[in-house]
Amino acid sequence: MRAVDLIRKKRDSGEHSREEIEFLISGYTRGEIPDYQLSAWLMAAWIRGLNRSELASLTEAMLYSGEVVNLSDLPGKKVDKHSTGGVGDKTSLILAPIVAAGGLNVPMISGRGLGHTGGTLDKLESIPGFNTALTLKEFRRVLGECGMALIGQTAEIAPADKKIYALRDATSTVENIGLICASIMSKKLAEGIDALVLDVKTGSGAFMRNEDDAVKLAEVMVDTAKRMGKKAVALITDMDQPLGKFAGHSNEVIESIEVLKGRGPKDLRDLSLDLSAWMFFLGERTPSVEEGRRLAETMVASGQALEKFRVGVGLQGGDESVIDDYSILPSARSRVDIGSSASGFLAATNCMEFGIALAMLGGGREKKEDKVDHGVGLEFHKRIGDRVEKDEPLVTIHYNATAKLDEAKSRIAEAFVFSEVKVPEKQLVRRMVGV
Ligand code: URA
Repeated sequence: MRAVDLIRKKRDSGEHSREEIEFLISGYTRGEIPDYQLSAWLMAAWIRGLNRSELASLTEAMLYSGEVVNLSDLPGKKVDKHSTGGVGDKTSLILAPIVAAGGLNVPMISGRGLGHTGGTLDKLESIPGFNTALTLKEFRRVLGECGMALIGQTAEIAPADKKIYALRDATSTVENIGLICASIMSKKLAEGIDALVLDVKTGSGAFMRNEDDAVKLAEVMVDTAKRMGKKAVALITDMDQPLGKFAGHSNEVIESIEVLKGRGPKDLRDLSLDLSAWMFFLGERTPSVEEGRRLAETMVASGQALEKFRVGVGLQGGDESVIDDYSILPSARSRVDIGSSASGFLAATNCMEFGIALAMLGGGREKKEDKVDHGVGLEFHKRIGDRVEKDEPLVTIHYNATAKLDEAKSRIAEAFVFSEVKVPEKQLVRRMVGV
C-alpha cells in the first residue's frame, strides 16, 4: 500500500477499507508517512467526508495507536467530560475538581488550542510548573491519590491523536464531524472510563455553527461510546458568545478558580455545575441529575472542590499558591479597550473572530511548532441582550506583541451585531442527545 494512492482515492471520493485507514494512521504515528502526505489526506477527508464504517475504522485505529488504560484496580467509577471546543470554554478546570471532590475518579486527557478555540492543556500550563505530560505511571499515581489527573495525549496514550491534532490545527482541517469524532473518542476511550459526558458546542464560536450539525456530531460520538460499552450523553450547548468573561490562558485559570471559590460569571458556573451533575449521575454517584447538581453545588460551597484543585495542581508539579495569588501567572504588559461602534442592544457576536484575534495576539498557534503566550487575553464586558452606548467598552484586550494588534482589534470590533430591540437571553443548554 502507498499513502499517495490513498490520498488520490479519498480525493476522488473513494471509500477506504479498515486496512487502508490502519495503514495511514499507524504509518503516520510511527513517522513513516510524512506530515505533507497526511495533511493532504486530511484535507481530502475533510472535503469528501468519511462514512460510518470509515469513521469507526479511524476511531479504532487512533484509539489502538497507543495503550488503552485499564483502571479496574482503582476503586470507584471513572467518569470524564469532553467539549468540542469554543471561546472561553474552561469548564474542565472547574468540573474535574468538583467531581473528584464528590467521590468519582476523573482521568482526563485533553488537547491544546485547536483552530480558534482554546485548549485545556495550554490553560493549565500557564500555572508555573504544571506538568500535563505525565507518564502513564504518574497519571495512575496522581489519579489514585486525588481522584483527578489532567494530561495531554502522550507517546503512550492516544499518540495518533497527539500528532494528528497538531497537524489539523495548522492545516484548517478541524471542523469535520468524522475527524472530530475520531479525535475525541480515540482519547476518551483510551482513558479507562466507565462514562462520558460530551459538551457539543453550537453557534458562531463553535466548530459546528449549525445546531443540526452539532446534533449529528453528538449522535455519532454517543453511538461510538455506547458501542464500546461506555455510558454517554451529550449536551448541545450555546457558543454564540464566549463562555464567561475571559478568554486567554492565565485569565481563564483565574476565572475557573473564582468559580471554585463560589464566585465567577453565572453562565460559566451554571454550565460547570450542569456538566458535573451529569457526571455524578452517569457515574452512579447520585440517583438523579438533580441530586448530582446539588452535590456539585455543595462541593463548591464547602470549599472541597477548591481544595481538590489545590491538591491536584500540586501533584502535577504546579505552584499551588496560584489559588491565593494570581500574580504568579503570566500576564500581559498592556491593555486597550475596544469601544462600541453604535448604541443599542447587543444582538449577536461572530464569536469565532474573538478566538482568531486571540490566537493572532499569541494565544494560539499558526504553526505546529509555535509557543503560546499564556498572558494574553480578552475580557468581555457585554453579553447578548445587554444595552450598550456608543464608545462604551465592549472588550479589553490584554496584549504583549503589537505586530498583529491592529488586525486583532478590527476583527473584534467587527464581530458585534446590534439591534434596536432587546433580543431574548440565550439558552445555555439547547438540547440533550443520548438520554
Ligand atoms: N476536541 C478534540 O479533542 N478534537 C477535535 O477534533 C475537536 C475538539
